[in-house]
Amino acid sequence: MELYLDTADVAAVKRLARIFPLSGVTTNPSIVAQGGQPVWQVLPQLQEALGGQGTLFAQVMGRTAEQMVSEARQLHQRVPGIVVKVPVTAEGLAAIKCLKQEGIPTLGTAVYGAAQGLLAALAGAEYVAPYVNRVDAQGGDGLQMVRELQSLLKLHAPQAKVLAASFKTPRQALDCLLAGCEAITLPLDVAQQFLSAPAVEAAVVKFEQDWKQAFGSTDL
Ligand code: E4P
Repeated sequence: MELYLDTADVAAVKRLARIFPLSGVTTNPSIVAQGGQPVWQVLPQLQEALGGQGTLFAQVMGRTAEQMVSEARQLHQRVPGIVVKVPVTAEGLAAIKCLKQEGIPTLGTAVYGAAQGLLAALAGAEYVAPYVNRVDAQGGDGLQMVRELQSLLKLHAPQAKVLAASFKTPRQALDCLLAGCEAITLPLDVAQQFLSAPAVEAAVVKFEQDWKQAFGSTDL
């Protein structure tokens, strides 16, 4: 499977790349804006934070297919190996088709429905990113959307992968993996929550206490 961090926080990527088996980093315009650094500055820093390995994802801002394609070409030229995120609108689908012909890899983003995601895959996107928590927050069923999308891609567009996105809890992410998603991207707080159960630290402290009581120190 592929595990990504959904962030533009360079220091956090550096810290977590030591701990997690990261496949790379995904960003979106809101995430980059939050970091305050222009995308052209932050992308090389993220690459360095990953130790020069791993895939970066950055999104186009244009609203027409022509603008999206032109921005995707720039991203592809300046950041080798980048996967270009394209919102799955009507124009976005036209852009994905064109970028596929040019050999520029894409991820169809802002996916709120299984059929929408399937269209991105059929247009040639390498990845499709369903927004799990945002669908849940609208009163929908994010996991069900992911399950349907998984099945649709398997049947009709097996070259495309679901990269499940938009999580607020580790449970949502875990459920997507159990549903068969090959890739997920985690915001920093959710990534940290995987390791932050208080019971884990309490268990380690108790081992130390028992050892120290018997042998006078915590040395092995
Ligand atoms: C993925 O493509 C999106 O950028 C991201 O995961 C959205 O997450 P959010 O709903 O937490 O903003």
